Amino acid sequence: MPNYEKLRAQAEESWRPIAEPQRPLIKVGLTTCSRAAGAQETLDAVRGELAGRGPSTGSGQALEADVMVTGCWGLCYAEPIVEVARPGRPATLYGKVTADQVPQLIERAVAADGIASELALAVLAEEPLDGVQPLGSLEFFRLQVRRLMANSGVVDPERIDHYIARGGYEGLAKALSMTDEQVIGEVSESGLWGRGGAGFPTGRKWDFLRTAQNTPKYMICNADEGDPGSFVNRNLMESDPHLIIEGIIIGGYATGASHGFVYIREEYPLPAERMEKAIQQARQRGLLGESVLGSGFAFDLEVVRGAGSYVCGEETGLISSVEDSRGMPKIRPPFPAQAGVFGKPSNVNNVESFASVPLILRHGAQWYASMGTEKNKGTKMFSLSGQVQRVGILEVPFGTPMSDVVLGAAGGPPEGGALKAVQPGGPLSGIIPASDIDIGLEPDPFRERGMLMGSGGLVALDDSNCIVDLAIYFEWFAEDESCGRCTTCFAGTRRLLEILRRIAAGRGRSSDPEIMRLLADTMRYANCAHGQAAPTAVMSMFRFFEDELNEHLYNKRCPAKVCRDLVRYEVIHHSDRLPVAEAICPTQAVVRENGRYRIDQGKCVKCDACREQAPYAIAVVD
Ligand SMILES: Cc1cc2nc3c(=O)[nH]c(=O)nc-3n(C[C@H](O)[C@H](O)[C@H](O)COP(=O)(O)O)c2cc1C
Ligand code: SF4
Ligand code: SF4
Repeated sequence: MPNYEKLRAQAEESWRPIAEPQRPLIKVGLTTCSRAAGAQETLDAVRGELAGRGPSTGSGQALEADVMVTGCWGLCYAEPIVEVARPGRPATLYGKVTADQVPQLIERAVAADGIASELALAVLAEEPLDGVQPLGSLEFFRLQVRRLMANSGVVDPERIDHYIARGGYEGLAKALSMTDEQVIGEVSESGLWGRGGAGFPTGRKWDFLRTAQNTPKYMICNADEGDPGSFVNRNLMESDPHLIIEGIIIGGYATGASHGFVYIREEYPLPAERMEKAIQQARQRGLLGESVLGSGFAFDLEVVRGAGSYVCGEETGLISSVEDSRGMPKIRPPFPAQAGVFGKPSNVNNVESFASVPLILRHGAQWYASMGTEKNKGTKMFSLSGQVQRVGILEVPFGTPMSDVVLGAAGGPPEGGALKAVQPGGPLSGIIPASDIDIGLEPDPFRERGMLMGSGGLVALDDSNCIVDLAIYFEWFAEDESCGRCTTCFAGTRRLLEILRRIAAGRGRSSDPEIMRLLADTMRYANCAHGQAAPTAVMSMFRFFEDELNEHLYNKRCPAKVCRDLVRYEVIHHSDRLPVAEAICPTQAVVRENGRYRIDQGKCVKCDACREQAPYAIAVVD
């Protein structure tokens, strides 16, 4: 029978060459975001370069180094990232290492045993080294408390030994020595609540399943992560899959569940691949199966793929989808703990909720609760995107000011732009104005503003965005993704969208705000949170951006110059780029008369092609 100490000792053996390398070790982060930036090509180039310089080639002085794949540090803006570790010295992280830069990186950082300073991002040390700053002093890192992300970028996510050697599955071993009620007590005491958006206390939810009478019971991990701009769950699955698996097994033990499902959206192929591999490895090590760690507790786990529907992230829609039924949210009660998958008691938790559990068991509830605020304990991962200088993923204690994250860590909008708003946690969460950027990242300040903090996406929007246009996007998304069960939801979102589009077209009516408020009130009676929360962005617009809305409604102006029917293109300067603009215009609206250019408004379809070619000469005016 497997025994945790034995597993740990064996794992430490295979981790030692990574932790204390005896020859150069090159780590390349390989995740969805880094692949998009060319990390696979960088990795191939590293392998190719080393093969070309290896002992078997007989080329000059042979170069020997090990290569390893890791997950993601969260520094998406600096991908592809390559770490070079050399014996007896702190490792160095290099950023934006494209395949063609690999030969010079290897020459300088490995062969010459120096530093490739122009690519160096940070050293993994407390103090600067060779003029390179420590990782912790990077703007993106300064605020972070990496508990959930402790292994991200550090371990090979496809090697269970790396996880175990760094304390993985210790929480499970501890849990198995406790009673189910004690485990739930520990989770409750930590203050953990669900990270999927609804914020329900995890311990309490688990107790519903534990006390359910029917069997078998199911544990379900919600990895649907459908909110545009949210990619924290993806990052965890790709970087540290065993942390999630360990949490699910502990949940199974605490509730009496015998089987688990990890529901992963279709658009996440790499997370699914890594979770599948990790499950297989856990099975091989006796961490899943007939007798988990020899305890007699039987639990197994499988990956189920979604088909790309947003409402399949809603727990009852997800349960239908796991059953291979149409993924539509159901009417509750019965709640999943009474009748979930195949009518049996089930529990759904978000990826990050499960990932927090092993840490709570390993270090204790008190340790977990030592971070955060009075009401919200622990840390939270956030993905940062939109108009920011540094896109990425970070982990901060609850209550960290949003300004420190969006303006500090992410650097705010690129030069020339000013922050207008932040869209937190998905299209149902609302839009927070830049004037409120100092609020703490925890649910309460968002709730006080009629919004939701959501599951961790923070999308920054600069002043080139129009509030009506944004509301149109969010209502379009809600309407498009509505499952169609409730008239309040599918017709309500459709109606909101029609009104908003009319306002953007300059045909708004003074009665529109009242009608939209009435619709929002009615939609609160929709079956699930999708319909109920669909008008949140519109309500944010009323609350925080009323002047801008009124400009559209009453003055038929779009101050951000985005709504196409409320703007026109004009030639404002002469430029030698104007003939290019004339040539590219698809409707021959850029016309030359008596040696001067003008835009024929009757022909212009506002496609922006001319302005892209002649930005100094052609402007959008309202
Ligand atoms: C339309 C809709 C989409 C949702 N999508 C997700 C999702 O992608 N991931 C998630 O964890 N929760 C999502 N939720 C929330 C789930 O219904 C559920 O509350 C959550 O998975 C419970 O896990 P937690 O208690 O750990 O937060 C969604 C809810 C709604 C209404
Ligand atoms: S509120 Fe919308 S998404 Fe939810 S069940 Fe009703 S129609 Fe479907
Ligand atoms: S915006 Fe498009 S259609 Fe209008 S003038 Fe420019 S290129 Fe032509």
